[in-house]
Amino acid sequence: MSDKAIIEVNGERIELPIEIGTEGEKAIDIKKLRVLTGGLITLDPGFKNTGSCKSKITFLDGEKGILRYRGYALEDLAENSTFLEVAYLIIFGELPTKIEFDKFIKTIKSYTMINEEMKDIIDGFPKSAHPMGILSSLTSALTAFNPQSVNIEDEEEMYQAICKTLAKIPVLAAWAHKKNLGEPLNYANNQVGYIENILEMMFKIPTEPYKPNPIVVNALDQLLILHEDHEQNCSTSTVRLVGSSHAGMFASISAGVSALWGPLHGGANQAVIEMLEDIAKDGGDVEKYINKAKDKNDSFRLMGFGHRVYKNFDPRARIIKKSADEVLADLGIEDPILEIAKKLEKVALQDEYFVKRKLYPNVDFYSGIIYRALGIPTEMFTVMFAIGRLPGWIAQWREMRLNNEPIGRPRQLYVGEKLRKFVPINKR
Ligand code: CMC
Repeated sequence: MSDKAIIEVNGERIELPIEIGTEGEKAIDIKKLRVLTGGLITLDPGFKNTGSCKSKITFLDGEKGILRYRGYALEDLAENSTFLEVAYLIIFGELPTKIEFDKFIKTIKSYTMINEEMKDIIDGFPKSAHPMGILSSLTSALTAFNPQSVNIEDEEEMYQAICKTLAKIPVLAAWAHKKNLGEPLNYANNQVGYIENILEMMFKIPTEPYKPNPIVVNALDQLLILHEDHEQNCSTSTVRLVGSSHAGMFASISAGVSALWGPLHGGANQAVIEMLEDIAKDGGDVEKYINKAKDKNDSFRLMGFGHRVYKNFDPRARIIKKSADEVLADLGIEDPILEIAKKLEKVALQDEYFVKRKLYPNVDFYSGIIYRALGIPTEMFTVMFAIGRLPGWIAQWREMRLNNEPIGRPRQLYVGEKLRKFVPINKR
């Protein structure tokens, strides 16, 4: 295979270099396209064929269903590691030594307090506000209390900013939940682990002691590992794009939270459960919903199905499906919704429409069922996803800045009106 691509424009042949990634992936480098072609650009809505950067963080092969963080298989990490250890790996590139990991945990704990004035901001939200809206706003509000943008060239300053972000966002996430419940906001408890602390802040009430069930802690830990990074997805691309203007980390992550909220992205986990509940209420007729999803005159889509990149299976969905069975059995929960999900999956996987379009269950299809079993309310599902994705956003933001990437600024093909003359209102 040549390491050059040749395109012909108006009879003139233009050579463009082909770059090859570590795993043999190939990309045509079009950086000089406009200059060499006298202004031609590429058109690729949704960036289906466009690589926005080179990255060393996550490798994904959508055909083979492979997902690796920094070269480690997702399955290996989910089985043997913990959320924070994987976060360290994703952000800094290597698994931490014991000394490095202890320092990481200690530094994160040193930042778990939140400025009390943030509570005034929370007071301003109606109780009915969606926790993703609250989380995005509060993350943005953190910029008010941390106005200095981190100096990316100062390794220690960057390290402290990363630990600060990992410490504070889960507190805000738990506060978003408490706001919905109308319960007092909990401070972090530095005596317990990262995952235990998230659960404690979300579920502890002042009148009762709280000790999380270890089954719940382990299941949540694993679920969050599966969400930690997923290369250039919508929210991560948003974080990189916002950060490319040299906006700070909190501002960039706040934008990432908003992007994640959409039902085609992280918001699908909430949408899946709502869909399964609707099917259950409607008598459990999965065929009816499969037909709705296939009907091009119906806007209904099978939530939790399909993926931009995975065209065979989503490796995260495989782990989650197995884990959903185990967690429900361990907790002694029988959830009829799980049966509906399995039935729906079975019918869809045999249906020509889904087979032809290579639509498979994605990470969000079964994750909501586990969250439900863990006692997490539906509106908090996407917030949990945000906590899980946080290390990925941080790692990608850091990589983008350290690589000194230029400001993100796509071009467009203008198809609007040609020049016309202004007409005064009384003549229109
Ligand atoms: N139900 C029914 N039809 C579907 C679905 C679905 N869930 N997903 C895709 N299709 C059809 C789509 O209508 C199109 O058909 P046709 O070729 O006849 O026009 C074809 O499959 C290709 O779909 P697409 O929309 O061009 O694919 P995409 O890569 O742009 O979108 C997706 C990917 C994930 C947004 C989409 O599959 C979808 O909307 N899925 C449901 C929402 C969901 O579960 N999102 C979570 C994604 S995984 C987690 C995450 O990203 O955070």
